[in-house]
Amino acid sequence: MDADDFSRGRVDRAFLVRWLREEDPERLEALWAAADAVRREHAGDAVHLRGLVEISNHCVRQCAYCGMRGANRGLERYRMTADEILECAREALGYGFGTVVLQAGEDYALTMEWVEALIRRIKAETGLAVTLSLGERPERELAAWKRAGADRYLLRFETSDPDLYRLIHPTLPGGPQDRLVHLRVLAALGYEAGGGVMVGIPGQSYDILARDILTFREMDLDMIGTGPYLPHPETPLGKGEIRPDLPAGEQVPNSEAMACKVIALARLVCPEANIPATTALATVNAEGGYERGLRRGANVVMPNLTPPRYRALYEIYPNKASLAVNASVECLMARIRAIGRTIGRGPGGRKRAR
Ligand code: 5AD
Repeated sequence: MDADDFSRGRVDRAFLVRWLREEDPERLEALWAAADAVRREHAGDAVHLRGLVEISNHCVRQCAYCGMRGANRGLERYRMTADEILECAREALGYGFGTVVLQAGEDYALTMEWVEALIRRIKAETGLAVTLSLGERPERELAAWKRAGADRYLLRFETSDPDLYRLIHPTLPGGPQDRLVHLRVLAALGYEAGGGVMVGIPGQSYDILARDILTFREMDLDMIGTGPYLPHPETPLGKGEIRPDLPAGEQVPNSEAMACKVIALARLVCPEANIPATTALATVNAEGGYERGLRRGANVVMPNLTPPRYRALYEIYPNKASLAVNASVECLMARIRAIGRTIGRGPGGRKRAR
């Protein structure tokens, strides 16, 4: 089977479900090879490194899977100062990265004005591309940050199934949110917009996951972040308090192989997107998760630059790979070169076919 069998027009829901259920090793090799070829043709051999700074672990949300949910009283909370964040941005520049990613829980103590001033400082002092991942903030704030110079915004939509979405995302006072609408707003404001889903979240069927992947294409996402769901013991899903029931054989497993299938299929449906080999993937396979992701469609890695004293507190899920020694920046660069890839230069924005 060659890459032509995966031409975009032929990829429909049934096709995606077949591949998600595929277990034959030889056929899977063909899938990995096709995704790798499309990645090389459309995104190139350079792996872009994004310096990830986890600027606050405060969160007003109660997502049923996330260890940083506001109701988790057992977690010590922190908020970095602007000076500390600037120091991390300088570190990113020193390593030669083109982008710094500012990520946090949905924390309204990070006010519009404060974030705006932070973006301006980072831009003025480092010139780095700035990616924000600060949750579902109001449009006027997103617009102000864009004007201040922010380039990209990450907001995973987590699932395209409205019932599952509601089940695992209690709404805030003020009513339901719609992350797909949010992603459209971000794109209209001029951001490169990144979405994605967890793989193997309880309640996720093959059919839902196939729709998620089609949603990547419909939304024409610039960035697609996916990784395996990792249960956190202090959450309703981790404790089994919420148990979405699916017919036998319908639940998608949260395995490394399944996460790789999603990366590969995402690359086939969105050839030009920036797709990271994520920390969650590296957490299920500490020795080779990044490499597998990069060989099966991914072209981005986000090394964690959060100061060590905060890093363990950014506990979305337990045992994050970014706490491991082979996830240091030097190690990651060596690992990338060892699989024959180069380190990207410059901002590494989405490429577009002319
Ligand atoms: N396991 C894996 N990924 C998770 N995320 C949140 N909680 C978990 C978990 N328990 C992902 C979500 C979120 C991103 C920042 O991390 O997809 O959007």
